Amino acid sequence: MLGSGAREHAIVHALHREGGHELFAAPGNPGIGQLAQLHRVDLASGPAVAYLAWRLRVDLVVIGPEAPLVDGVADAVRAAHIPCFGPSAAAAQLEGSKAFAKEVMRAAGVPTAEAVAARTPSEAAAALERFGAPYVVKNDGLAAGKGVVVTDSFEAAVAHAQACFDAGGTVVVEEFLDGPEVSLFCVTDGTTVVPLAPAQDYKRALDGDQGPNTGGMGAYSPLPWAPADLTDQVLAEVAVPVVQQMAAQGNPFQGLLYCGLALTSKGPKVVEFNVRFGDPESQVVLARLATPLSALLLAAATGRLAELPSLVWSEDAAVGVVIAARNYPGTPVIGDVISGLEAANAIPGVYVLQAGTTVNQEGELLSAGGRVLTVVGLGPNLAAARERAYAGAASVQLQGSHYRKDIALAAASA
Ligand code: AMP
Ligand code: GLY
Repeated sequence: MLGSGAREHAIVHALHREGGHELFAAPGNPGIGQLAQLHRVDLASGPAVAYLAWRLRVDLVVIGPEAPLVDGVADAVRAAHIPCFGPSAAAAQLEGSKAFAKEVMRAAGVPTAEAVAARTPSEAAAALERFGAPYVVKNDGLAAGKGVVVTDSFEAAVAHAQACFDAGGTVVVEEFLDGPEVSLFCVTDGTTVVPLAPAQDYKRALDGDQGPNTGGMGAYSPLPWAPADLTDQVLAEVAVPVVQQMAAQGNPFQGLLYCGLALTSKGPKVVEFNVRFGDPESQVVLARLATPLSALLLAAATGRLAELPSLVWSEDAAVGVVIAARNYPGTPVIGDVISGLEAANAIPGVYVLQAGTTVNQEGELLSAGGRVLTVVGLGPNLAAARERAYAGAASVQLQGSHYRKDIALAAASA
């Protein structure tokens, strides 16, 4: 397992509960270290990762974050004849470049927001005027979920575009998509596509979807309000056409195609693709997966998904609450002591996944990043899962930390 976030902890947690595996992670985090042996490696170096995987004699490498995928780490691992879950650098452009993703969607006939690539302030201003408010301006590159500004203020939209140009980048200006957002993860070996359970993420920092965009403040699954045929529709209209288009253009996509969708009045439209498991959605989706995750990932990595029996899901609902450090999503305050994890983990149906954590010489757990923990609650329905997740979150102490109080609230009370 490559990576160090709560997503990677969720993946390792799922693999660990199957039993029978020897698990390794690089670099991992203190929580992952309780389940897997930790190693250091340069995540940007394909040869270094391939060498580590060869030395450890692993059966499968799973790449968590997007950056190593865009850097071609999966290509290097596969070149060493080691199965690897994750797309090639070429296929990872679906996340690495918003303009590339738009072009693939156009070629595959996939519904998405109309968009214009802008390289200069005047091009950006013209596009903003054309689409009107609310304005959507995206940095055309990897930005850890923070490169997008959605605003009613023309000045704020222009300022974000200018900041991207000043940093040497380009932007994509988009039509605003109205409607609830859904994340659907699709596992593919390049040919066969297997959807996981849909989830919903909370991107804004504050309750009631206020405040700035973040990497994700919480998630839940299943979605009781979603149309029953949503997964089938997204599979047929989005995931399969994109996987076929990528294969047709000589960039076969193997790994996880994360379809970020807005359910508009004109049907589901793609907001974004990611080329890896989402964070924090993985924390809730994998909590509910009853099929062994290792079988699914290995089948995708070895081109054998068609042979895999249908996925089995737990009847339970899952809610994940992200505990963020003071000042996140700005520069987070780090180095504070975290306590109460044992108490949270002792609550039935609750476990805590770690992200931005580290251990000091005294063995104390400290905050070390913006998103510090995800508290996962499982229960027979969303209301019960929510209650457990929030009981867990209330048991954790971290000075100055904050979390949203409304994760899954509307869905649980509907
Ligand atoms: P992205 O990095 O493209 O996923 O965008 C981050 C977030 O910005 C999304 O999850 C949405 O909440 C919002 N967003 C992005 N594009 C649009 C759009 N065209 N219309 C409305 N909201 C958007
Ligand atoms: N949940 C948003 C992301 O993983 O990018």
